[in-house]
Amino acid sequence: MKYIRNFCIIAHIDHGKSTLADRLLEFTKTIGERDMQAQFLDDMDLERERGITIKSHAIQMNYTYKGETYTLNLIDTPGHVDFSYEVSRSIAACEGALLLVDAAQGTEAQTISNLYLAMNNNLVIIPVLNKIDLPGAMPEEVKDEMVDLIGCEREDIIPASGKEGIGIEAILNAIVERVPPPVGDPDGELQALIFDSQFNSYRGIEVIFRVKNGRIRKGDKVKFMATGKEYFADEIGTLKLSQVPKEVIECGDVGYLISGIKVAKEVKVGDTITRFAAPAAAPIQGFEEVKPMVFAGIYPVDTSEYEELREAMEKLQLNDASLVWEPETSAALGFGFRCGFLGMLHMEIVQERLEREFDMTVITTVPSVRFEVITTRGETLQVSAPAEMPDPSSIDWIEEPFIKAQIITKAEYVGAIIGLCMDKRSLFKNQVYLTSDRVELQFEMPLAEVVFDFFDKLKTISRGYASLDYEFLGNRESTMVKLDIMLNGEGVDALSAIVHRDKAYEWGKKLCEKLRELLPRQQFEIAIQAAIGQKIIARETVKALRKDVLAKCYGGDISRKRKLLEKQKKGKKRMRQVGNVEIPQEAFMAVLKIS
Ligand code: GTP
Repeated sequence: MKYIRNFCIIAHIDHGKSTLADRLLEFTKTIGERDMQAQFLDDMDLERERGITIKSHAIQMNYTYKGETYTLNLIDTPGHVDFSYEVSRSIAACEGALLLVDAAQGTEAQTISNLYLAMNNNLVIIPVLNKIDLPGAMPEEVKDEMVDLIGCEREDIIPASGKEGIGIEAILNAIVERVPPPVGDPDGELQALIFDSQFNSYRGIEVIFRVKNGRIRKGDKVKFMATGKEYFADEIGTLKLSQVPKEVIECGDVGYLISGIKVAKEVKVGDTITRFAAPAAAPIQGFEEVKPMVFAGIYPVDTSEYEELREAMEKLQLNDASLVWEPETSAALGFGFRCGFLGMLHMEIVQERLEREFDMTVITTVPSVRFEVITTRGETLQVSAPAEMPDPSSIDWIEEPFIKAQIITKAEYVGAIIGLCMDKRSLFKNQVYLTSDRVELQFEMPLAEVVFDFFDKLKTISRGYASLDYEFLGNRESTMVKLDIMLNGEGVDALSAIVHRDKAYEWGKKLCEKLRELLPRQQFEIAIQAAIGQKIIARETVKALRKDVLAKCYGGDISRKRKLLEKQKKGKKRMRQVGNVEIPQEAFMAVLKIS
């Protein structure tokens, strides 16, 4: 244990975590240059494109310092608020953290929230000032911020550049010198913390864990304490460039376990592995069931692809334990699925993976949070789709989830951001100047408002200089109503939304306007109406097409005609016919685009 160091890297998105991790792996010869892909740790295509490390992985390096060889386990952490529980478990598996701050950007919301997590877990923080090669770097200012934030000495901060390979050796030395070795009882009962799992189509689920006490041997019968499931440790080992099977993983170390587990759901991040024959008295603290926060319907564009979509969802769930779904029927869209996601990014990722990996074209309906509806008969209903909302006459009151939001921005945007948040039904809680120019704002706000396009608006009004992080506070009473949309007199359930009563009229009006823009003109007129209960509150009309689109091409250039048809075909890709009206995907999201 004396020669083990477990650490993670805390950084805001794009502050250079993956690039720096690559350098550490290169320097310690864990990977040769030839193995080097652009970014080794992000091994899903999607992750690479988005530049976000979505799932945490771990990798082991050996590093020789003053004649001794150390085992360094780098535990990767996802950088987005949707995955904050995974971050918290990764942090719980470490003794130290590199705090990476972009020398041109300074600290951001994610840096700070993850730093607090690390500090609460008593991790040793090694401050690294990254990207010092950038012409726009402000090393002195950002160092001031870091000193204020962590309470470290200026000299503790290591200047670095992942891109230019500056400071890499200093960082490795600091990990050995400053991060304490793990503590634990090697001869005690086995307690291993599961902080990640990954899916391998040949070998099933690979469980990634950190041994806190005892040791785990190949062939051991083990038990996962939260799920109560028992397995045999068919294969265990350490994670290097590839997996290295081992006979035993010792106390303090990080490893993987393969046991023929087929379904991701059986493996819960935060669970404790113990030995069946001599179980630990208690699990490691901090386990939580992750709960989906955002819900939406997913429907095949082509109704005949329902079964295919079900198969795709099942496969997706094999390696994404946080995705939940159940069948749902919509009067307008037919058979589909109501899905629960950790947040908006998670939702986008699922949709993209369905399209890329499974070649499905799907329609996603307006996302919603989960409301609690207390009926006049005293029942509590969980409502996460407008269609599930009971008749207003039977509702006593409604509660909606609230979050504590933390926004970091430049001083000049504070006014605009407070305005935006107030408009989003937020309570302003606090304002702290981190430096003379950087401000941290705190609000309590309804999660539903974050779902409705908050993030894009925040980025726009702050010209990109605002970062957001949040945590769940609890449910609070709110007066919500269901806003129904009708096309040519027929209710289209998939277009309804649950909105706050004070905003319902304005929203109804704007939603109708937006739909008028988004619905393509057809051979006949389309009346769009918004209603609350029986009452129509807004109306718009999409005029009928005057001419056949092709009419003007007859006798004309054939290539032009083909182009026009191609264009129409493309536009049709994500459309659903509801009654006799064609509705494009954008229309189902119209409510998110209301300003
Ligand atoms: P996420 O995975 O999205 O959290 O991003 P990350 O923090 O892993 O950042 P990543 O390593 O992907 O780098 C983000 C961008 O910054 C990329 O375009 C890198 O090329 C660039 N970058 C990373 N390190 C440096 C550096 O030291 N100097 C400069 N100039 N650019 C860097």
